[in-house]
Amino acid sequence: MSFVKVKGTYDVLPNESKRWQALEKFVRDLFNTFKYEEIRTPMMEYSNVFHRENEQSDMVTKETYNFKDKGDRDLTLRPEGTAGVIRSYVENKLYANNRLTKLYYIGPNFRYERPQKGRYRQFMQFGVEAVGSSDPFVDAEVIFLAYETIRRLGLKGVKVKLNSIGDDLSKSNYKKVLVDYLTPFKDQLSADSIERLNKNPLRILDSKAPEDKEIVENAPLPINYLSDAAKEHFNKVKEALDALNVPYIIDGKIVRGLDYYSHTVFEIEAAIPGFGAQNTLGGGGRYESLVEELGGPRLGAIGFAFGMERLLYALEMENIQLVNEERLDAYFIYFDEPSKSMSFKLLNELRQDDFKVDMSYLPKSFKSQLKEALDLKAKYLVIIGENELKDQMVQLKNTDTQIQELIPMNQLKEKLGVL
Ligand code: HAM
Repeated sequence: MSFVKVKGTYDVLPNESKRWQALEKFVRDLFNTFKYEEIRTPMMEYSNVFHRENEQSDMVTKETYNFKDKGDRDLTLRPEGTAGVIRSYVENKLYANNRLTKLYYIGPNFRYERPQKGRYRQFMQFGVEAVGSSDPFVDAEVIFLAYETIRRLGLKGVKVKLNSIGDDLSKSNYKKVLVDYLTPFKDQLSADSIERLNKNPLRILDSKAPEDKEIVENAPLPINYLSDAAKEHFNKVKEALDALNVPYIIDGKIVRGLDYYSHTVFEIEAAIPGFGAQNTLGGGGRYESLVEELGGPRLGAIGFAFGMERLLYALEMENIQLVNEERLDAYFIYFDEPSKSMSFKLLNELRQDDFKVDMSYLPKSFKSQLKEALDLKAKYLVIIGENELKDQMVQLKNTDTQIQELIPMNQLKEKLGVL
């Protein structure tokens, strides 16, 4: 019998976790600048939070991990952050203060998808939701924040793709036009798209199936069927983004993989070799009825989420360092039990003063202790042998200059502090 990780999951080992921590810190600091506050919602929700009547997307209907708990309750591991955040927003009446509520989150999500590079069954997202307003300036703020995220990280080969799928009126008008266009091609469409034709025709637009692509190429686009109100909203969003010099491309085919969207939708794409189809780093959009669907007032909202594995991979491909080289202040090297005890005592005293110091607990030769010290990039070696111990002294060696001096133990802290 062997013990292996669940298909589509991965371990973050110590040599990688620093990059994750650095990305999380970057995100927290940036979102904080924009006055978004963290919300932490459960990884599981009652299934009805995701499986709503109006949510017929593949992601929710086919890819969720659903199970019954011992109390016969239907639960779902969250496939994304938005629905749970809005459930919490409504349940905790965060709308009561009559303000725009600006939330961010970082956490794992679960989708039963075919795993491949950049696509996992458990994956991490960070995202924001600005809830409580339909003001186009909020769309622009949220898109600007998504853009700032990649700009400040230093990613170059990235595009912001923008579209509007309109309000309810535009959407229902457009659906009719699209179904009329697609129906004569019904027999040529992929099986998935035939199924979507009744339920969710918009999703056919971003189908990756080769047989659909050609048909879709000439399909009418939602952006050409916007109501006057939706057109005006989208124009204001674009104006605000232009004023901020956010470079974006209008892409009429972006409809997104969830059904709750209306008006503005956007995706952040990376042109990174080796990414293949998984080149979307993040995406989001406006949703005007989800708050109400989850039992709250009719309030508009907009948000986005980035996939963190893809983002970290993109940063690696563009050679962007997130983590500065970390050095140990000092590494203790000892020779016998008494010098080991003394090292242990001295090093833990130094830790109380926030020095980053370490020693080996495995019985090791001088040479292998030295190797470990150099691997850990220790700035100093503190060497204690029989003679040093007798005289209450230590050898302090600077690993950069190779200068070594004999100093009294009680001056160690002072020496490390000023050197
Ligand atoms: P989404 O487009 O489904 O949107 O996911 C956002 C990002 O999560 C994707 O662009 C991708 O980078 C990453 N992602 C999705 N699935 C996987 C996977 N299986 N493995 C690795 N990464 C993945 C949402 O989730 C919406 N909740 C975004 C949003 C927030 N809309 C409004 N507010």
